[in-house]
Amino acid sequence: RKPVSLPRLAHMRAQGEKITMLTAYDATFAAVADAAGVDCVLVGDSLGMVCQGRRSTVGVSMTDMLYHTASVARGIHRSQGTIWVVADMPYGSYAESPEQAMRNACALMQAGAHMVKLEGGGWTAKTVEFLVARGVPVCAHLGLTPQTVYALGGYRVQGREEAEAQLLRLQSKELQEAGAAMLVLEMVPAALAASITQDLQHCHTIGIGAGNGTAGQVLVLHDMLGMNLGKMPKFVRNFMADAGSVKGAMQAYVQAVKDGTFPDNSVHAW
Ligand code: KIV
Ligand code: NA
Repeated sequence: RKPVSLPRLAHMRAQGEKITMLTAYDATFAAVADAAGVDCVLVGDSLGMVCQGRRSTVGVSMTDMLYHTASVARGIHRSQGTIWVVADMPYGSYAESPEQAMRNACALMQAGAHMVKLEGGGWTAKTVEFLVARGVPVCAHLGLTPQTVYALGGYRVQGREEAEAQLLRLQSKELQEAGAAMLVLEMVPAALAASITQDLQHCHTIGIGAGNGTAGQVLVLHDMLGMNLGKMPKFVRNFMADAGSVKGAMQAYVQAVKDGTFPDNSVHAW
């Protein structure tokens, strides 16, 4: 298997092959995801919940993200080294200025990331443009953006109303224009996520709780293994239930996303 790169992702998209992504926070799980043929790994700030037991991602620091990104990168180097590594920019690490974002993005890249992810639309376009112009690949994130959960009022579906949907469409286009090569769409109605995907030919949408019309899918690793400290989101499928191993569960996930059997739009009521 050739290493996953931006041209390789664009090629997959052009061929109609779905992009697979899972989160990982440590060397061993990252190495197994790499060996299982997952296309991308996300060192998500969901580690605040999964690893640190927090109730939100707001408390996650750059120090935390650097520690986990470096661990994941080392694990991948000891495996096949083909997986594309995305690292979340944590709360407070990019909102101040494009310069602040650049400084923190560089630190994540030096820890082993290939791409950084930041949440939000509108004001973020300028920051995305700043990073991309300086050679840092960027993944954007719209819909339910957990870092702003207190402003949003809770973990719930975004873009149900037409005005909200229009704003998401507009912000998605601005982010593609700014050079974002990937866009996570979290908890948005399937039809909206599919139409945004159609609108963005140069930016690959990765859905979570956003139906099966996106260019790719992502799940939190522990969720898809059936391990969750809170309430399991409805859109998650437990891939461990029928697999004999973690690697088997990851391979089943890759298979299901590639052949279009996950996600199943009928499971989730938007
Ligand atoms: O932190 C995370 O795990 C994420 C995914 C849910 C997209 O941002
Ligand atoms: Na995140």
